[in-house]
Amino acid sequence: MFTACGVRRVFRTSFKNSRFSRKLFGMTVNFQAPKGTRDFYPSDMAVRRFIEDIWRKVSIRHGFQEVDGPTFESLDLYRVKSGDEIVSQLFAFTDRGERELALRPEFTPTLARMVAQKAAGLPRPIKWFSIPRCYRAEQPQKGRLREFIQWNVDFIGDASDRADRECIAVCVDALMECGLTAADIHIGWNHRELLTQALTSTFVAPDRVSNAYYILDRLQKYDFAARKALYQEQHCTPGECEHFETIASAGTSPEVLTTWMNSWPVAVTDAIKTFEKRLADSGLAEICRFDLSVVRGLAYYTGFVFEVVDAQGQNRAIAGGGRYDKLIEMFGGPAMPAVGFGMGDVVLEILLRERNRLPANLMPPADVFVINALEDATISDQLVARLRRSQWNADHSAITRPGLNVQTSYRSTRNIGKLLQEASGCGARVALILAPEEVSRGMIKLKNLTDRTEAEIAIADVPDRVHGMLKP
Ligand code: HAM
Repeated sequence: MFTACGVRRVFRTSFKNSRFSRKLFGMTVNFQAPKGTRDFYPSDMAVRRFIEDIWRKVSIRHGFQEVDGPTFESLDLYRVKSGDEIVSQLFAFTDRGERELALRPEFTPTLARMVAQKAAGLPRPIKWFSIPRCYRAEQPQKGRLREFIQWNVDFIGDASDRADRECIAVCVDALMECGLTAADIHIGWNHRELLTQALTSTFVAPDRVSNAYYILDRLQKYDFAARKALYQEQHCTPGECEHFETIASAGTSPEVLTTWMNSWPVAVTDAIKTFEKRLADSGLAEICRFDLSVVRGLAYYTGFVFEVVDAQGQNRAIAGGGRYDKLIEMFGGPAMPAVGFGMGDVVLEILLRERNRLPANLMPPADVFVINALEDATISDQLVARLRRSQWNADHSAITRPGLNVQTSYRSTRNIGKLLQEASGCGARVALILAPEEVSRGMIKLKNLTDRTEAEIAIADVPDRVHGMLKP
């Protein structure tokens, strides 16, 4: 049963009356999918696979290995360091043994726990990626759901900014592979430690740094009236209000920000310039820019943080991450620097659709379509099964000929013209036509659907001929 377990908000299923609710045994039962979840029909699944395949391919290309963990974890794992916002959105429940558990809202605590458990035996650096389903009881809205898929990329055991830049590079590479360009996205970066130094050396008292972070996170999203209320809620002094207003206006006037930054400690501005130079050396200068408003809501970040946003500013964040150098130690492991990011599938898919970057047909095309114009389906079924099955070598140690994607019609029609249309509709390059006259002579008609040529061949020769034709 889902219970509060000390977290502020919990999952409550609410179904509206609809044709999917029924009165059964005096009770109203509902068959609707829960709010904020998705059904993946074949065409949706094809889009999901397109995105996930790119995430997986790009991660592997950059030397990351795939991992996964449980869908639910001990509630404490998130209470410790994820931050108030995420904890307030947990789907938390108590099991029969009175253990407090929660569906994972993110993967980073699981990853930190996994590394902490086996740190001594893991080769360094640890470069892992994962593609888990995550659950957050957010108010469903454009780009934010209650169940989503999140690609995580994490680089553990390297404290240098090389690891930070490598994470940005993987992230950018995947977005480009999806069809986006440098003009479609921006990456805003910041550094929590440097920012703290800048704030405390200018207008923020050391005990007010977390309030300042809270405000900075909201400055660009709020209008003037909302900002005024925010300053009041955070008990800001008139001096603080004035400074925050300067930062808020810097979005439209970078000179204002530059003037303020000129009063920062030289070490801080030098560190920012050095990182900017390194980003440029990695070919990332065009996409990345230093952005004070990027502070990230999660409590475990310790230094460099970044967020990927739609350059047109229309959508919620596409991805976000940063350094969490203390988390593994906190979960009982050795002191290990770590950096990583998460990217959800929801905003990415919206962006790809809005920019018209999804390939037109994502359904996997068939290789061969078998048309049966005989009374009986036995020969056709045997042929389909034979072509679909992979062939192995004599000692069964390797596949010598992979099985083909073979489709056939389940309709009762023997109208060859209509069936050829069905073959073209599923993208097949070859059609095999079993007709009474040819089959009585042990032959079959083979039609090349790309160049429309036709040939009559022996049924026994079909596998060799078809595999020969489909060779890239
Ligand atoms: P996050 O900023 O909470 O960071 O989430 C990262 C990304 O996950 C977001 O930019 C968004 O694309 C997606 N996302 C988050 N919540 C939702 C939602 N309710 N619906 C759809 N998509 C969502 C983290 O989760 C960190 N653990 C990332 C990280 C990995 N940091 C280091 N390693």
